Amino acid sequence: MFNLDQILSRYNPVTGELAGAKSTERYLADLRGCFANATAYEEALAAGNPLLYRVGSVEPAADEGDLHYGVGCIMPGKIGDEYHLTKGHLHAWRPAAEFYFGLSGEGVMLLEDEATGESRLVPLRPHHAVYVPGRTAHRTMNTGTAPLTYLGVYPARAGHDYGAIAQRNFRCVVVERAGQPVMLARNQL
Ligand code: F6R
Ligand code: ZN
Repeated sequence: MFNLDQILSRYNPVTGELAGAKSTERYLADLRGCFANATAYEEALAAGNPLLYRVGSVEPAADEGDLHYGVGCIMPGKIGDEYHLTKGHLHAWRPAAEFYFGLSGEGVMLLEDEATGESRLVPLRPHHAVYVPGRTAHRTMNTGTAPLTYLGVYPARAGHDYGAIAQRNFRCVVVERAGQPVMLARNQL
């Protein structure tokens, strides 16, 4: 069932669509409150409402022990000096970990431990895997000039909890400084 070639043969790297999968699209208007620079966000939205990312999700089975997976595609671009990003979430079932595999493009993941608030910035690019432990909020950003595509694999019962992040956002912000992604504390911007 889980065969990377089989998955990728259904994948269109230009549009980010995964044939036969449930597709979730997030446009700029769906990301209200996610970017630190509200003025830059409103200015960008006034100019248009582009697709920021798309995730094709596959849920082969939902028994205990099964895995679900999704192929994500984040379009390149910035809002102010923040890179295009995903909403970010904790898993509804908090112990659920997740494995991310970079497929194309260049990006980073912001990982925040729910209990301690400790934040880490890790690269996500082809031939890199990122282990997201349980109880860790995660957000993905495209730091390059081409679409960033990746595969995320997670327990069938993981679920998504967007509520906590929507309320308080991540403690850290990732911005471009001298052409590089840099993690800064949100309250020190
Ligand atoms: C699933 C997972 C990814 C994300 C995708 C979009 O647990 O982490 O498939 O769902 O990167 O991010 P969100 O869901 O935060 O909009
Ligand atoms: Zn996740």
